[in-house]
Amino acid sequence: MENLVGIRSEFPILEKKIILSSCSQSAISRKVIEAMDAYKNSLIEEGMSWDVWMEKVNSAKVKFSKLINCRPDEVAILSSVSDSISSILHSLDLNMQEVCVTEMDFPCIGHAVLAQKRIQNFKVTFIPSDNNVIPLEYYEAYISEKTGLTCIPHVSYYNGFKQDIKEIAKIAHKKGSLLLVDAYQSAGSLEIDVKDMDIDILVTGMQKYLLGVPGISFLYIKKEISEQLSPSTIGWFGQKNPFDFNLKSLELAESTQRFNTGTPPVVNAYIADAALSLINGIGIKAIENHLYNLSSYTLETATQMGFQIASPLDLQTKGASTAIYVKDANRIENLLKEQGIIVSARKDVIRIAPHIYNTKEDIYESLAQLSRLTL
Ligand SMILES: Cc1ncc(COP(=O)(O)O)c(C=O)c1O
Repeated sequence: MENLVGIRSEFPILEKKIILSSCSQSAISRKVIEAMDAYKNSLIEEGMSWDVWMEKVNSAKVKFSKLINCRPDEVAILSSVSDSISSILHSLDLNMQEVCVTEMDFPCIGHAVLAQKRIQNFKVTFIPSDNNVIPLEYYEAYISEKTGLTCIPHVSYYNGFKQDIKEIAKIAHKKGSLLLVDAYQSAGSLEIDVKDMDIDILVTGMQKYLLGVPGISFLYIKKEISEQLSPSTIGWFGQKNPFDFNLKSLELAESTQRFNTGTPPVVNAYIADAALSLINGIGIKAIENHLYNLSSYTLETATQMGFQIASPLDLQTKGASTAIYVKDANRIENLLKEQGIIVSARKDVIRIAPHIYNTKEDIYESLAQLSRLTL
């Protein structure tokens, strides 16, 4: 990456620490810090600036829709991926059908499906994993003609396993199921084109590879689908004319806008707008290539050092994050933190999750320290 020095200088924390935690919280850029200040200053200097705030919310949405190649009106803004998942599940008629969830999904997907099952009568099928990956044949085997919805992660939060969305979409659609993709571990690290991949519903947030913070989530629903849905988790920003203040009628906004709820998370939208500018400015393809090279280097170096790896060893089925088995992962995360190396523990693994600002030296240093602590 030619301009790596310039990119690194955008992230002040890199002067003091090695940040390899993009699967959980990425480093924060100067642009994001300025955006936080801009919101704070708007409150201190102007008091109330609804027009400016709504413009920021809209601008973040437009940038996000550009990133995943959809229309801005196909994106609703909520506060967390869990909120977005719950909202879409509440709105679907799944009675007498089946919902498939993979065992590699983030727990909030399973929770939302199980909560909805208390309201509607459908069967839940958990698609298993085999050695921390899900072979494509499993989708053929587990999705049935009764499946109304199939939920999958694009990239697994646990080990970075990356799925072939286009092929899974073909299988789901052939059987008559909608496809919901949780892209929280891929958005900002991999190219996503919802039209080309034929995704019906996509959820993600800003905290991980999108270089922002928690508190904002984007819910994409294909227009043709969202216009058939009547969400029950709603709010005045999901109405056709929110500023009519008419409480006696319910007129849902067009397309996915009807999934907006109350006043959007404005400070998070300022941050999202700045972070998405940075991502779109660098270019998602350049980010993906850089992370592919670091992923390859991490696998090679970790193997040479003798670590047991929980991630796929084939780069074609692996995202940016590499999961390494360690005993007492949370304690190791804290010990590395004391040395200024920020990685993220989950269950029995430490996840090394770089971004565009990381170098091979960062990876080597973190693996060398991990080796001193564990091997
Ligand atoms: C893939 C994935 N989905 C969902 C979530 C949960 O997101 P939220 O806390 O916004 O509900 C996470 C959080 O780590 C995640 O990695």
